[in-house]
Amino acid sequence: MSLARVYSGLVDGIKGEIVTAEIHLGEGLPGVHIVGLPDQAVRESRERIKPAIKESGFKFPREKITVNLSPADKLKQGSTYDLPIAVGILLASGQLEVSPLQLENYLLLGEIALDGKLRGIPGVLPLALAAAEHGLDKILLPPENYKEAEPVDITPLVCSHLRVAVAVLEDRHVPRPPPAEDLHQSAPVVPDFVDVRGQSSAKKALSIAAAGGHNALMIGPPGTGKSMLAKRIPGILPPLSKQQSLETTAVHSVAGELLNQNSIIKVPPFRAPHHSISGAGLIGGGQVPGPGEASLAHNGVLFLDELPEFSRSVLEMMRQPIENGEVRISRARGSYTFPANFFLIAAMNPCPCGYLTHPERNCTCSPSQIDRYLHKLSGPLLDRIDLHLSVGPVRYDMLRDKKRSKTSSQMRRQVIAARQRQNQRYRDENFSLNADLPANRLEKYCQLTEAAHALLRTAVDDLGHSARTVHRLQKVGRTLADIEGDRRVTETHVAEALQYREFSEDNYKY
Ligand SMILES: Nc1ncnc2c1ncn2[C@@H]1O[C@H](COP(=O)(O)OP(=O)(O)OP(=O)(O)O)[C@@H](O)[C@H]1O
Ligand SMILES: [Mg+2]
Repeated sequence: MSLARVYSGLVDGIKGEIVTAEIHLGEGLPGVHIVGLPDQAVRESRERIKPAIKESGFKFPREKITVNLSPADKLKQGSTYDLPIAVGILLASGQLEVSPLQLENYLLLGEIALDGKLRGIPGVLPLALAAAEHGLDKILLPPENYKEAEPVDITPLVCSHLRVAVAVLEDRHVPRPPPAEDLHQSAPVVPDFVDVRGQSSAKKALSIAAAGGHNALMIGPPGTGKSMLAKRIPGILPPLSKQQSLETTAVHSVAGELLNQNSIIKVPPFRAPHHSISGAGLIGGGQVPGPGEASLAHNGVLFLDELPEFSRSVLEMMRQPIENGEVRISRARGSYTFPANFFLIAAMNPCPCGYLTHPERNCTCSPSQIDRYLHKLSGPLLDRIDLHLSVGPVRYDMLRDKKRSKTSSQMRRQVIAARQRQNQRYRDENFSLNADLPANRLEKYCQLTEAAHALLRTAVDDLGHSARTVHRLQKVGRTLADIEGDRRVTETHVAEALQYREFSEDNYKY
């Protein structure tokens, strides 16, 4: 047998795809030639495989070895193909006691170190899903990647070394899952809202944001607790559903974020990129595009602190994911889509010195400085933020008053109850949160009382709110009604929703 065929995989966007690796030993100068659009890391695999095969007690064939990775039109990246190529060489050179047909049940993945040890790779969850879809029933992978393959309907076989992989393939060894304590990962500790004293209206607004998935912007002087508030949001969100958990884990898996964690993601992610981040870092990019922070926040929270410090062009790029819940990146080879259905929480000072809205201190900025500062935030971006909330300074007695400070668990109960009502109402729809309610469904799901209509009429005719703003007001009203368990949206809900439009561009007064 001088030709072997094994299966591995590549990741396209966040979807896995099967790669067939053919390994041929033939006449010619000894050496390994890899074809099928390999990148530098794939080409370097020959330097890793040779010593690894020898260190594992096998012979490296002194023949011309040709490796063909297909489909040939897609770039193969990274070190994923080390294991399939090494196994293919052993099979083609008659050093592996397994029938070629049997080998076709396996997906092989993993980087190999020079001593033959297997190392984790990114993208295992989508690859495992692709393998299951392709009808393969086993996946051979490094211990670090075990957890990612676990939720998929395929048997994960963990191999720590090339020697072990050979023993597993030859049916001489049945690997056991890594011991539970290795896999144990304590949930990240999220601080509690009780630490934030006062700020009851900001807390209420953040509960609304969390309940309905609304985007929110906090505006206030320095040191009033804006960053503190945002960091506590994950503590009031319900855990992810199984489907959401798989989607979010797939994005993190492809981004290589799970390599040292060996886990799947069960709680909503909270991403807080620094304001110096590039456009590619935020929405995704690269030669073969990978996910950015917006996608890593999928099904969770994207927190942009000090919003006007982000470059304007980067902020403008956010409009697409905010509107569509996904990022689309075009390249010469095709376009790539990444999910990015997060809710945005942003924080900023009202002006460069920070004290414009402070009741006691004086602002030292000139109107033109303030203009320049706010100019970074375009109208269309502000328009996509449902809740604009003012966070003011807290009085001393309030700072000491722990008893009157709402806790995360109190807020969480409200959020979960409101989410359950939404899930029930939207059970036959392809969205589950009020913020994602399309305009053409508003009439069906967002019934207003007559008085609420009258109030909205004033908002449009007298205050000049746009149609989009009115839709957003209705959705926020819907969430307020869900929090209170009301079937209809009343004028109280609309009035409260209107308060959260205080800072829309036209209303910004100084
Ligand atoms: N409401 C509050 N309750 C308790 N501590 C607070 C509160 N607000 C601020 N602090 C204290 O002040 C520190 C700074 O707060 P934080 O970083 O959240 O302010 P900020 O509003 O984000 O300010 P900046 O605009 O400068 O970013 C906190 O770490 C905390 O110790
Ligand atoms: Mg801050």
